[in-house]
Amino acid sequence: MNEKNAIVTGASKGIGFSLAKALLTEGYTVYGLSRKPGSLEEVRWMTCDVTDKEDVKQVFAKIVKDAGRIDLLVCNAGIGISGAAEFTSAEDYARQMEVNFMGAVCCALQAVPLMREQRSGRILFISSLAAIFPLPFQSFYSASKAAINAFSDALGLELRPFGVETSTLMLNDVKTEFTDNRRKTATGDDVYEGRIGASVEKMEQSERSGMSPDQVAETACKLLKRRHLPSHKIVGMSNEFLGFLCRILPTNLMLYLLGKIYG
Ligand SMILES: NC(=O)c1ccc[n+]([C@@H]2O[C@H](COP(=O)([O-])OP(=O)(O)OC[C@H]3O[C@@H](n4cnc5c(N)ncnc54)[C@H](OP(=O)(O)O)[C@@H]3O)[C@@H](O)[C@H]2O)c1
Repeated sequence: MNEKNAIVTGASKGIGFSLAKALLTEGYTVYGLSRKPGSLEEVRWMTCDVTDKEDVKQVFAKIVKDAGRIDLLVCNAGIGISGAAEFTSAEDYARQMEVNFMGAVCCALQAVPLMREQRSGRILFISSLAAIFPLPFQSFYSASKAAINAFSDALGLELRPFGVETSTLMLNDVKTEFTDNRRKTATGDDVYEGRIGASVEKMEQSERSGMSPDQVAETACKLLKRRHLPSHKIVGMSNEFLGFLCRILPTNLMLYLLGKIYG
């Protein structure tokens, strides 16, 4: 019988799917959450919209009843929007924060009481380099991931005495359906002299030639073998170098360079 139970949100495709597959190989019993079930037969699928608090509560209650304990929660479900901040509808930016931030928070807070009582457990948030390199015309996406990073750190401090650890996995470009599913607002591109379209196009090109989700899952599994989780882990050598630059460069210089590339 498997001893370790993991929950992966957004497990039906992309990075979540690869994570679920890799965790099964590592011997976890995997509960997969998404609005549509995925195709992996060994995963215990729970249809759930992470923005629906009641839905999340019921699904976690079912998992706890079935599994008895939660060793790992991966908050991965996420969406992306793009466009100039001033031309993004309130509905779109609220949804961005609801899925990526509030959705992850809602799931994490369902797992916390049990992990605290168990005096063990790990919560891994799937974040982005955009959390530390805020991208123009993806301001709300960047903000949603920066919020996750801060939340993960603060939550980790609260839970440390109970043996519960939190961590973020910060990704750069990964080749998934995320790119095609991005909700793009081109409104105002004339006002911004074509910068919105050019910036998003550039970033999408990088995503389409990005790393595979299996590579992300491999790094996550290596991380989970560590005795303690780092507060943040950047995936990929070149991306780790970018993270290093972010730490040493003065913020204004970093923003100037970002503006040159994506502005
Ligand atoms: N791809 C990249 O380049 C990249 C880079 C940095 C960070 N990330 C982050 O990685 C995570 C996964 O992205 P991905 O590239 O794997 O995207 P993806 O292929 O589009 O998969 C997104 C997953 O999230 C689920 N999801 C979306 N909204 C949901 C909701 N309201 N409730 C429950 N599940 C929901 C989707 O399932 P359903 O549609 O069935 O609900 C799907 O399983 C996201 O947090 C993203 O921000 C991605």
